[in-house]
Amino acid sequence: MRILSGIQPSGSMHIGNYLGAVRQWVASQNPDAFYCIVDLHALTLEIEPQKLREQTVDYLASLLAAGLDPELCTLFIQSQVPYHAQMSWLLECVATYGELSRMTQFKEKASRQHGYRVGLLTYPVLMAGDILLYSAQQVPVGDDQRQHLELTREIAERFNNRYGSVFTVPEGVQPAASSRVMDLQDPSRKMSKSLASPMGTLYLFDEPSEIDKKIKKAVTDTDNEVRFDWDAKPGLSNLLEMYASFSGESPVEVAERYSRYGDLKKDLSELVVTSLAPIRQRYRELRDDEAALQALAARGAAKASEVAGPLYERVAAAMGLLAGR
Ligand code: TYM
Repeated sequence: MRILSGIQPSGSMHIGNYLGAVRQWVASQNPDAFYCIVDLHALTLEIEPQKLREQTVDYLASLLAAGLDPELCTLFIQSQVPYHAQMSWLLECVATYGELSRMTQFKEKASRQHGYRVGLLTYPVLMAGDILLYSAQQVPVGDDQRQHLELTREIAERFNNRYGSVFTVPEGVQPAASSRVMDLQDPSRKMSKSLASPMGTLYLFDEPSEIDKKIKKAVTDTDNEVRFDWDAKPGLSNLLEMYASFSGESPVEVAERYSRYGDLKKDLSELVVTSLAPIRQRYRELRDDEAALQALAARGAAKASEVAGPLYERVAAAMGLLAGR
């Protein structure tokens, strides 16, 4: 099964990224799976160049620590495969301004700043290119990427109708639980890397004492009945889903075992800390050997280019470009 997915190396990786996406990547890795750190996407918002460099390497180590095996799948850095940026231009000439300006994430992020970058608007086209370059059949992502996935399908179909059938039309895949992990302090909004909410965001490499504090202080409600109900109890349901995705149960099963919020929070905190402990340990070892990480990225980029290059050439030729001949 051909798979592609990506993650931005902006901010630190949080539990939403892990449960919503990365854990699915690990479970579905195979020789036909491509996972990328999308550093070009991270340029759409202000970021210090030195920070971007460091975080890109942090993310490489984090993904390996979380269980990606570069012998089994292809792990690479987006900017090291130039076809992504090239493909993006071609697809900008397939997508329309109207459909891009309707994207929810664009509207949210643009409304928070004056003079946003054009890349913030065209970002979903770059993402569509990431996916289509690899003829991905499945794209494991969290719920917040659904709309971008729909647009990718739309662009692929439009292209195929206009220029001939080149693209595979991909499908998004979401995990059974925690496809949308909410902020612990404000369960009406998703946990996010780009909005600062230190007490609401559980980072993958938070100290165990911080994880404990954040979970114990998570906002719930006051009626003290443990029940899985997103409408009436979003804060509690968020915790139940998180528990369920770590324990492999359903949120309803977890809820049945508890009668007090405090007991659930205590056990959840222990479960999260013990589940993440081996990842923290491996991360420290891997992050120390930067040369090995750089070499691994170079191998990944070479493998990715072998797939992306020929597809790019087909697209360019179908559109009438003489490039690559
Ligand atoms: P990014 O970097 O924001 O997030 C990476 C992955 O984590 C998921 N995610 C969540 N899942 C559950 N709960 C949350 N609170 C949560 N927050 C984030 C995201 O859905 C995503 O799967 N545009 C993408 C990156 C991208 C991409 C691609 C993804 C670029 N090209 C091609 C797939 C295929 C993004 O910004 O993800």
